[in-house]
Amino acid sequence: MLFPFCPNPQDMRVTTRKLQERARDGEKLVMLTCYDASFAALSDAAGVDILLVGDSLGMVIQGHDSTLPVTLDEMEYHTRLVARGSANALVLADMPFGSFQESKEQAFRNAARLMAAGAQMVKLEGGAVMVETTRFLVDRGIPVCAHIGLTPQSVNTLGGYRVQGRTDEGAVQLVADAKALEEAGAAIVLMEAMPAAVAKRVTESLAVPTIGIGAGPDVSGQVLVVYDMLDIYPGRKARFVRNFMEGAPSVKAAVEAYVKAVRGKTFPGPEHCF
Ligand code: KIV
Repeated sequence: MLFPFCPNPQDMRVTTRKLQERARDGEKLVMLTCYDASFAALSDAAGVDILLVGDSLGMVIQGHDSTLPVTLDEMEYHTRLVARGSANALVLADMPFGSFQESKEQAFRNAARLMAAGAQMVKLEGGAVMVETTRFLVDRGIPVCAHIGLTPQSVNTLGGYRVQGRTDEGAVQLVADAKALEEAGAAIVLMEAMPAAVAKRVTESLAVPTIGIGAGPDVSGQVLVVYDMLDIYPGRKARFVRNFMEGAPSVKAAVEAYVKAVRGKTFPGPEHCF
């Protein structure tokens, strides 16, 4: 059988190509983190385009103080739950710390496990250093979302959770990293915690969509950690987070408000930018 059985073509999942077309048409893309089947079903129904099984689960689900202890087995498990609970959104799984940095072969072996668990794309943290690995995965059938700027798995070398690209040199480096990753085949470039002007420059220099978190409004789409935007996570809230539970009668309504705000370009506002 060449094509999976699909009773209604409208029910097919969002694809990388659809995302790229929508971004080209100026439609804002909506990404939200997701770790289980119930939130997957709810977010899917609310119109979220991409469900990110983020290794942020190490902090918001497991209670660690960083994402570093998250294992591939755990990511595989949560990816399976999210894929099972959703029907429309693209499922993007994070490659956890230590599962892809050693060699491109190690990255392929572990990315393949996440794809088999139900992901349609994997996310790798890192700039130019990930170019070769990105090309290796893409050439072998694994779509890649690059993640640049603040890369939480490198918190110990970055010296904390700090905004990146504040200097001219840093900004130039981010643009160069993004271009190199696009050239290597990355389908999406996610940018975390950088000045809005820098994220705009990166977006304008790429043909593929960009997704921002703490990167301002001039990107192709936005992502937030679901436990942050629902005001569940007890830790300190970053400047770029908006509490969508405020004024919302239910969790479903809050997620719908997030989708509407991103598509309608009312989030993020100037108060959420660096
Ligand atoms: O793990 C995660 O939730 C992420 C987002 C912060 C983008 O990578």
